[in-house]
Amino acid sequence: MNDLGRIEDLPLEYRQRLTEQNLVPLWPSLRGVMPPHVPGPKTQPTHWSYQSIKPLLMQAGELTPIEKAERRVLVLANPGHGLDKMQASPALYLGMQLLLPGEWAPSHRHTPNAVRMVVEGEGAWTTVEGEKCPMSRGDLILTPSGLWHEHGHEGTEPVIWLDVLDLPLVYYMEASYHVNGDGKRQQVHAGQGFRQYARGGMRPTPVFQSNNKRYPMLRYPWADARAALQSMADNDPALECVQITYVNPETGEDAENILGFYALMLRPGQSLKLPARSPACVFHQIEGRSELQIGEQSFALELADTCCAPGYTGVRLRNLSASEPAFFFMADESPLHRKLGIYEVRD
Ligand SMILES: [Fe+2]
Repeated sequence: MNDLGRIEDLPLEYRQRLTEQNLVPLWPSLRGVMPPHVPGPKTQPTHWSYQSIKPLLMQAGELTPIEKAERRVLVLANPGHGLDKMQASPALYLGMQLLLPGEWAPSHRHTPNAVRMVVEGEGAWTTVEGEKCPMSRGDLILTPSGLWHEHGHEGTEPVIWLDVLDLPLVYYMEASYHVNGDGKRQQVHAGQGFRQYARGGMRPTPVFQSNNKRYPMLRYPWADARAALQSMADNDPALECVQITYVNPETGEDAENILGFYALMLRPGQSLKLPARSPACVFHQIEGRSELQIGEQSFALELADTCCAPGYTGVRLRNLSASEPAFFFMADESPLHRKLGIYEVRD
């Protein structure tokens, strides 16, 4: 309810004079940009079925050669923002990418930060600034802002992964651009962060050489994340939320600057209610089947399905298996909200 007057209440001649001077009266629009108590999100609870995406992505593989596409991706777009905006939420972009055996997506770098969550297929790799990261199902690979990266595939079956970028935000900031490489494969150097930081709570000792890389770890193997979750669940059967955050192992801060990345485990049959929080959040089913209730809406998630929840909305997750755990990869806008000072937990 707008109780501050409408623009039409002002004389036409006055409005025209304002427009000529690039001026706008605030009061008729004030409630729209600052609604009472709760924001009015465009982001809608949305579910993307992997079984529906995969045939269309495979068809893209037939329709468009990698040389033409550069990156062969179907974007998971939230209808609340309009599909042409190619965003899942205010700051999150999601894309399902296909690389066929023998294909190569050449080196480039860009300002938006990206991560890859491997959904299906073995034998692909991403080289980031000369560090070759093997891609296995459930692995998280970082390609942060400004770092050169390319993708290749030496396996025999198609590889599909989920791209998560902060593209909508960086684009909104008018700071989004890319730079292409020289068309040659990157020189691969020795040393891999996921081996250097192979165990939690231990990091390499910098006696002769300090590790001053801004992003010391670029690959987070799923085998390690899964083992950490299982260990936490075994250690404390009363622990309600079995969740880990992917962090920079040198600083303990979030792995990237704008988006946060997590893995979450539900015990067999477990139901978990997450509080309403200000950032939007994405859930991707790595193992098992589940039911997600986002506000008033419910979605059944099969393996590799993806769901988006708007901010300020409670989410209830339920593992549909009584015998097997369920695992999720999650991405949200928490680091951004914390830096902006607008992070909130409600109820
Ligand atoms: Fe890229």
